[in-house]
Amino acid sequence: MQACACRPATVRVCMCVHARACLQPVAKAHMDVRCRTAFPEDQSGGGDDAEKEEGKGGGGNPQEARLQRSPSPNRKHRALAMTEAVGAKPKRILVTGGTGLVGRAIQEVVANGEGQTDEEWVFVSSRDADLTSAVETKALFEKHKPTHVIHLAAMVGGLFKNIRCNLDFWRRNIHINDNVLHSAYECGVQKVVSCLSTCIFPDKTTYPIDETMIHNGPPHSSNFGYSYAKRMIDVQNRGYFEQHGCRFTAVIPTNVFGPHDNFNIEDGHVLPGLIHKVYLAKQNGSALTVWGTGKPRRQFIYSLDLARLFIWVLREYEEVEPIILSVGEEDEVSIREAAEAIVEAMDFRGELIFDTTKADGQFKKTASNAKLRHYLPNFQFTPFRQAVKETCTWFSTNYTSARK
Ligand SMILES: NC(=O)c1ccc[n+]([C@@H]2O[C@H](COP(=O)([O-])OP(=O)(O)OC[C@H]3O[C@@H](n4cnc5c(N)ncnc54)[C@H](OP(=O)(O)O)[C@@H]3O)[C@@H](O)[C@H]2O)c1
Repeated sequence: MQACACRPATVRVCMCVHARACLQPVAKAHMDVRCRTAFPEDQSGGGDDAEKEEGKGGGGNPQEARLQRSPSPNRKHRALAMTEAVGAKPKRILVTGGTGLVGRAIQEVVANGEGQTDEEWVFVSSRDADLTSAVETKALFEKHKPTHVIHLAAMVGGLFKNIRCNLDFWRRNIHINDNVLHSAYECGVQKVVSCLSTCIFPDKTTYPIDETMIHNGPPHSSNFGYSYAKRMIDVQNRGYFEQHGCRFTAVIPTNVFGPHDNFNIEDGHVLPGLIHKVYLAKQNGSALTVWGTGKPRRQFIYSLDLARLFIWVLREYEEVEPIILSVGEEDEVSIREAAEAIVEAMDFRGELIFDTTKADGQFKKTASNAKLRHYLPNFQFTPFRQAVKETCTWFSTNYTSARK
């Protein structure tokens, strides 16, 4: 699944002009009608309601709207204030980290029918601006003048990279997040949706984890740099709301996987790393060695499902408080079960070995998706084994160009 050759570093997906056609080669067979049927209840009524709400907005000038609102820590007030701020003008949505796993999934879902005619999507990467630089970040925002932002850009990595580089994860992500949120504030962006992660929750906690528990205790020591940096996004979102009335919010996905992931065995996340290992073991006729005991448990979310949920959050979720985007607790699987799903998908027939000298990381971080289900009771997640199969097929097909 390759981008067409004419695609520049910045990918624009204007839903009404030739740029969309330009993106068509990026989209491929494994996206299907799920994109269009994800929100049946929303298509009939929710969208209209949202438009009516938008009509209430005063003038569409976000700076003006901010001044009219009286910030309050109360959730209902926050939601009301955010609704009032929405203008009726076309949206220009800037996606930072637009070339990564999640960014590419949003590109694909937008290009395959989820985009709307009043939206212009701009996907940027580190080639457009190094977001650790305040000057480059501000220039990026002044160039594109977004009305909305999906903020994905981050230093991201698996357990072993986190253990090695906690300081780098903290510093880079703190700089990126502060630069993006402050530039968004200065440029009058109407809404920002940033991305946290369930691995930032306290290590010692009760299960299931929910959105109210982010700051209740220290995160697991293996990834404290990444975790504290991500938690500060939530702190900043509250600050921007309470001081300036900004509609900055965040989502909390569980472990994401899918096409365009980082399949590096040392530095990537567990599932893409395992896919790469199975691919090599099959090629070499060797055993598959899984790092750790295989006992830790994870909730995995397919990047294309996450992309559809991100778009819903951008358009319709009105709270400043974050929302967990996850499959249900009943869909949590052990690392062993995940490895077995990959083995089956890739038809690997060799031996499976668990190297128990390697770290397991956090044993589990079971998250509740009750809040998500309250809003979207009928959202359909792609079954885990089907999503694994699609990802394995993508990796095998794109082996030479995949990040690894
Ligand atoms: N993957 C997961 O399992 C997972 C789980 C929960 C939450 N998340 C969160 O989801 C978001 C997206 O993750 P992902 O897995 O899609 O990451 P990814 O595939 O590693 O992509 C990272 C993106 O960030 C950009 N980026 C990194 N450093 C940058 C910088 N200094 N300036 C500008 N852009 C920069 C990269 O641009 P280049 O391509 O140019 O380097 C790339 O587009 C992140 O915020 C991550 O914390 C991920």
